[in-house]
Amino acid sequence: MATYIVLMGMQGAGKGTQAAALSQKLSLPHITTGGLFRAMDGQDSDLAREIQAIMARGDLVPDATTIEVVRQRLTKPDAANGAIFDGFPRTLPQAEALDHLLAELGSRVALVPLLTLDRQEAIERISARWECTLDPTHVYNLNTNPPKVAGICDIDGAPLRQRPDDTPEAAAKRIDTFFEKTAPLLDYYRARGLVHEVNAAQPIEAVSAALFHLIEVSKNA
Ligand code: AP5
Ligand code: MG
Repeated sequence: MATYIVLMGMQGAGKGTQAAALSQKLSLPHITTGGLFRAMDGQDSDLAREIQAIMARGDLVPDATTIEVVRQRLTKPDAANGAIFDGFPRTLPQAEALDHLLAELGSRVALVPLLTLDRQEAIERISARWECTLDPTHVYNLNTNPPKVAGICDIDGAPLRQRPDDTPEAAAKRIDTFFEKTAPLLDYYRARGLVHEVNAAQPIEAVSAALFHLIEVSKNA
């Protein structure tokens, strides 16, 4: 059975950081809707321009667009054995759509780890985040996880940048939207016994170890 994991948590909790580690350890693709949307930056289309404007404000991209992007990503062969979803689903219609898409593949969501963190700490992390311009899944933090050379990605040597939606205003709005639109999804998954909390206030490696342990336990359950 394929392993589809939905990583949930407030903005800044470390979904992207941990999804990258899980993806490497489990050899499963890291599917991040935020990353897929950012990759459309600079494309010459009304849709791409509209998406960048929505993200810069800290609002959610409409469900239909988001679901279509994920549907297309799931048709790629590397997603047949499972995937780590980061930042998707974020609304009830997206969660229902994911269930349909996975059912078409003869599968379902296996586990929903919830990374828990204090709001103030999340905002501090977001304000100090820098990402690689070549591969935005390479994420750094000036306070907690700095690159070896300032402004340069350790992995591929590309320059780092701050995300345009990491202003304090947009970050605060994204967190408000998490509580309003995404947190209710937890009940949807709790009803199926899939949600397991992981303390995201620990160092990155400790959070990874807790996630790996959780996945092993759930495989053997
Ligand atoms: P998205 O890219 O998903 O961003 P987000 O939801 O705002 O979440 P973040 O990326 O800020 O948080 P994260 O949990 O990944 O934290 P990270 O690992 O980087 O979405 C962006 C936008 O796209 C949305 O606002 C929306 O407009 C649109 N969008 C995306 N998906 C959508 C959807 N499904 N529906 C509709 N619209 C959608 O960590 C943060 C920082 O902390 C980093 O600097 C990292 O190095 C550091 N860090 C991580 N873990 C630790 C740790 N344990 N200790 C210390 N530092 C740590
Ligand atoms: Mg992220």
